[in-house]
Amino acid sequence: MSFTFNTTKSIVNEPNSSSELAHYCHTLNITKVLLVTDPGIVKLDLHQKMLASLQASSISYELFSEVEVDPPIAVIEHALSFAKQHKIDGVVGLGGGSSLDTAKLIAALAYSSQTLDEVFGIDKLLHKRLPLIQIPTTAGTGSEVTPISIVTTGEAMKMGIVSSVLLPDIALLDASLTLKLPPHITAATGIDAMVHAIEAFTSNIKKNPYSDMLAIEALKLMSKNIQQAVHQGSDLQARANMMLGATMAGQAFANAPVAGVHALAYPLGGHYHIPHGLSNSLVLPHVLRFNAPAAAPLYAELADTIIPNTTSTLTTAEEKTTAFIQYLEDLINNLKLPNRLASVDIPQSALPMLAKDALKQERLLVNNPRPMNEADILAIYQAAF
Ligand SMILES: NC(=O)c1ccc[n+]([C@@H]2O[C@H](COP(=O)([O-])OP(=O)(O)OC[C@H]3O[C@@H](n4cnc5c(N)ncnc54)[C@H](O)[C@@H]3O)[C@@H](O)[C@H]2O)c1
Ligand SMILES: [Fe+2]
Repeated sequence: MSFTFNTTKSIVNEPNSSSELAHYCHTLNITKVLLVTDPGIVKLDLHQKMLASLQASSISYELFSEVEVDPPIAVIEHALSFAKQHKIDGVVGLGGGSSLDTAKLIAALAYSSQTLDEVFGIDKLLHKRLPLIQIPTTAGTGSEVTPISIVTTGEAMKMGIVSSVLLPDIALLDASLTLKLPPHITAATGIDAMVHAIEAFTSNIKKNPYSDMLAIEALKLMSKNIQQAVHQGSDLQARANMMLGATMAGQAFANAPVAGVHALAYPLGGHYHIPHGLSNSLVLPHVLRFNAPAAAPLYAELADTIIPNTTSTLTTAEEKTTAFIQYLEDLINNLKLPNRLASVDIPQSALPMLAKDALKQERLLVNNPRPMNEADILAIYQAAF
């Protein structure tokens, strides 16, 4: 079997590691760093221990805290001109996927001859980037270990920039930063991360032994800890397990890409501003049910991994798949996430338009274990309605 596996060079998994930010900047020879984050993080003062670390060192810094959720092109352009103006030589992303994705593009394009317009798609970045440290505050997109940045283009479209240039130098996993993450965001981002593991494990083309190993371990960690992290948010151990699981899932799908669930989720986010994790959660059971005829043996393996007590009495892959999907539906209910498209105010009349849009996500649909056409996608949306 031929495959390539790339990941972030250094992963530091340690609560409070972000208090040592200056040390990690020194290891990358950064002298003036740009800290990239969003207003929600600043309001919670989550950036203060990083600033304190920099202030106690010889490293100077600038703060860009205007990242918007699902960052649009205008925000990236604004961040790029801010970075150029301040002559920085390193970038730190602090936040959820939106801040980390913005930080990646600043590191790649701040002093590049290429413009943002020129780099959408796969492997378009031609130059090296600035040193880059990523500190996630959700568990999460896995952006700290993926070669991907997602930008909102126009009203309803999201487009990806995919290049190994975007893989950060260091991921600092400091779970203490997630202690105040509200239950609904913990739930939605946690389900997103679990979907990364599930879709990597069934990825049609690039599935490989490393991605499988990471997806399994990620699902074990997250299925054991997501309820505690949502309902008892101050439990640092549960938070740390969720963060490590999300990063492992990120490593898996960075190399064995996501598929149908994400393809059907993106139009919901684009047209109705539904958060990424919740969009995934809304379509998850229905996409898995559609995929089951092709993917049952793999879903059965995942079921054996996370609900062994249930599957020990079951014999066929189909029965185990049904139990796996039921487990996920129960989990979504337990986490109090909405579970119908209707309950997030999507009108039934919009489903054909959403199906047309999902079909455009060819980059993702090629990875789905069962081919999907427009009629299939519409039927899945109807089942989710
Ligand atoms: N690069 C990738 O590989 C990749 C993968 C999947 C998704 N994405 C992108 O990531 C983005 C979504 O990221 P996300 O779901 O992590 O959320 P996010 O970055 O959009 O943040 C959502 C909200 O949560 C708040 N928040 C974040 N951390 C917090 C904390 N610790 N405590 C309290 N509030 C906190 C933020 O202030 C923000 O208001 C989307 O743009 C999506 O397209 C990227
Ligand atoms: Fe995702």
